[in-house]
Parts: sequence; structure tokens; C-alpha cells
Amino acid sequence: MRYGSEIYSNNMRILGIETSCDETAVCVLECTGNFNTDFSYTIVGNALFSQAALHAPYGGVFPNLAKREHQKNLVPLLVQALTEAHILIPVTPHQGVPLVNTKGTPWEDIERVLERESELLPQVTQFLQTHAKPDIDTIAVTFGPGLEPALWPGINFAKALSMSWQIPLVPINHMEGHIVASVVGENNKYQVSSIKKEFEIPALALLVSGGHTELQLVKNFDDYQMLGETRDDAAGEAFDKIARILDLPYPGGIEISKLASLARGKTKHTTLPRGMKDSGDYDFSFSGLKTAARKLIEQHQPLSDEMRADIARETEESIVDVLVSKTLRATEEHGAQCILVGGGVAANSYLRSRLTEESKVPVLFPAPGLSTDNAVMIALAGYFQATKNPPTGGLGIVAQGNARL
Ligand code: KG4
Ligand code: ZN
Repeated sequence: MRYGSEIYSNNMRILGIETSCDETAVCVLECTGNFNTDFSYTIVGNALFSQAALHAPYGGVFPNLAKREHQKNLVPLLVQALTEAHILIPVTPHQGVPLVNTKGTPWEDIERVLERESELLPQVTQFLQTHAKPDIDTIAVTFGPGLEPALWPGINFAKALSMSWQIPLVPINHMEGHIVASVVGENNKYQVSSIKKEFEIPALALLVSGGHTELQLVKNFDDYQMLGETRDDAAGEAFDKIARILDLPYPGGIEISKLASLARGKTKHTTLPRGMKDSGDYDFSFSGLKTAARKLIEQHQPLSDEMRADIARETEESIVDVLVSKTLRATEEHGAQCILVGGGVAANSYLRSRLTEESKVPVLFPAPGLSTDNAVMIALAGYFQATKNPPTGGLGIVAQGNARL
């Protein structure tokens, strides 16, 4: 069964905006068709700035720095995405209120929306004074979950554009974006792509990022059942925290993974716990792993290169063992037809090979560039939402740091 049979066909150009964590991302997608049958999309503009290096000295994401950086980067990224899509229309600069606001929204209302984004307001004003409305039908923006100080600039930017251009705004749950990212084909610019043919419902989604570890049963688009989640640290967070103890740079997942590959297949010197692996439910716990890794590292000071690699391998295997075991059990128990893996940790190559080898049903991973946070997945989810329930406004959107699917 494929989902969304009630969705009507449409052609839409969507602007996607994502600022839930430390990536600022803006994209333009052209979408057409019915999700169930003939859906296809083309990425015509895609601009992303990762703040990871700026947060690295803090060993994690520093919310107020993220907020400031989002404010600084949104307009330049918008200009880049519109330019790539060939829909940036410069007009002769003029003084006073922006030209495009001709359909009745008082400029003061738009200013009020950006009141708390003091660095964004002058940039938006200048952009709107010097550019005509581009050929965009709808805007999709992440409203949560994420860091609220980071979410707000994206939301308020989207509201200002929506008011000024007089087009609808669709609020998107970031986790729905991660689900959608694994279902669609490619991430290449200007290439027509579609839904993967292996995608069938019900599907089991394993969502693993720096802030989340969840198993969701996908019964339909917009119809999710949370089967389990982490009770403490997220899988990505466990990677990042143990990486920090090993003096590896942030974000640590990829660093642990590289180090682990040096020790794979060699004699094992260490063992770390598999938290809640046999708990019988679908919840996770990774804080015990972090504590055990810290003790192990303290016991073996000074760490030899061999020992560091072995601890990294055991960390990766511990996290992946638990994720794979619970995902496969949930798949079987709920008769899922495929497994979807989403979130930053979906980029982990050891997780990818273990799940693919051990699963009896197809396992779908996001295309490169769609695992970590991006605007394409938000625009795609926006299209499915907008074609299912035609958007009515969206100006009441508020940031929801703990939003659930
Ligand atoms: O989804 P994401 O980009 O941001 C949110 O947390 O929403 O995920 C980032 C997380 C970080 O914890 C990072 O260490 C982890 O994904 N990550 C990885 C890998 N690449 C990114 N973890 C393990 N292996 C990787 N290759
Ligand atoms: Zn994410």
C-alpha cells in the first residue's frame, strides 16, 4: 500500500526554511503530482550554512550563538537559493516601505513580526526594497522540535516573507522532515526525482539525531505512532559526548566512526554496556554508556592510539547494536513493510551496513546531504502537507522546542 491516496495533484514551487539547530538552510523546490502515484520534485535552489565549526569550541550547540548566526545568514541564503532557481528579481532601490507590500499588509505589521530579530529586520527590509516578489507559491518552515532561540528567526523570517508576498505558510515538524528525507530519491540539483519504489506502509521509522532517538510507526502521511524513545541522551548526543571525552572535535559522530573503523575486525580490548537492549520495550537509554566510557577512558590513561580506536569501535557498536535490535523487533512486531532511517546518525556507515544486512524488509536511507539538517526535507514535507490540507495562513505559528509528531 502507498500512502496519501486522497492527496490531489498539484504543481507548486515551495520555499523551504530550516533553523532548528545549527544549520541555516533555505531551498526552492518544484513539486508536482500525487504522492501516491506520480509525485516528482526538482531541487532548483539549495543554500545551506553549517555553524558546526563555530559551536565546536563549546562542545555542543550554543543556542544564542545559533540564533545570531541564523539571523545573519537567512537573507544571504535566500538570495543564493533564489539566484540558483533563476527567480531573483532585483528592482531599482527606493526609499520608504518595500515596494512588494502592495496587497494590504501594513509594513508596521511586518516590522512587528521581526521585532525580536534585530539583526534580521534591516536585512529583510533592504531585501524587500530591492527585490520584487519571486515566483514562489508556498513557504514551509520548521516550527519544532529544536532549540527555541534557533527556531524563532526561521519562523519570523518565513512569516515576514509570507505577509509581504501574500502567500501561504506551512508549519513543518522537523521529525516529519527527517522521515520524508528517507522516502524520496536524490538530492541532486536540477534532477527530477521521485518516491523510492521500495517505500510501502506501514513503515517503521528510526529517527536518530543529536536531539532525538525515536521509533515511529508510519501508518500514513500525517499518521504516526511513537513506539519508543530515549529516556535520557539521544544516540547522536552519546556519540558527541564520548567524542568529547576522547578529545575529538564536535560534532563527534563522524569522528568516532572514523576512529572505530581503524579497530574493526581487530582483537577487542574493551566492552561497554548495551543500554536497555533487552528491556522488552522500544525505549532507549544512552547515558549509562557515556558514564561507562568515561570510566574506561580514565582507567586507561594515558590512552594508546590502539586503545582510543578500540573504545571508539565499542562505542559505535554498542549504540548500533541497540538501535538495530530494537528496530528489527519493532519492524517484525508491527508488520512494517520497510524501515526508514532519518536524522544525522543515519549517515553512520556501520549502522547502514548492519541494518541493511540484518533486515528482511528494505531499509531506506536519505540521499547524501539529506541525513543531516537541510531545507529540502522541510519543503518536501511542506508540499505533502499543503496538497493534503490547503494552507490557510500560518501566521500564528509559534516555536515548539518539544514538538512531537
Ligand atoms: O539531525 P542532525 O543533523 O541535527 C539534529 O540533532 O537535529 O544530527 C546531528 C547528529 C550529531 O550528534 C552528530 O554527531 C551525528 O548526528 N552524526 C553522526 C554521523 N554524522 C552525524 N553520528 C554517527 N555517525 C555519523 N557518521
Ligand atoms: Zn535533525
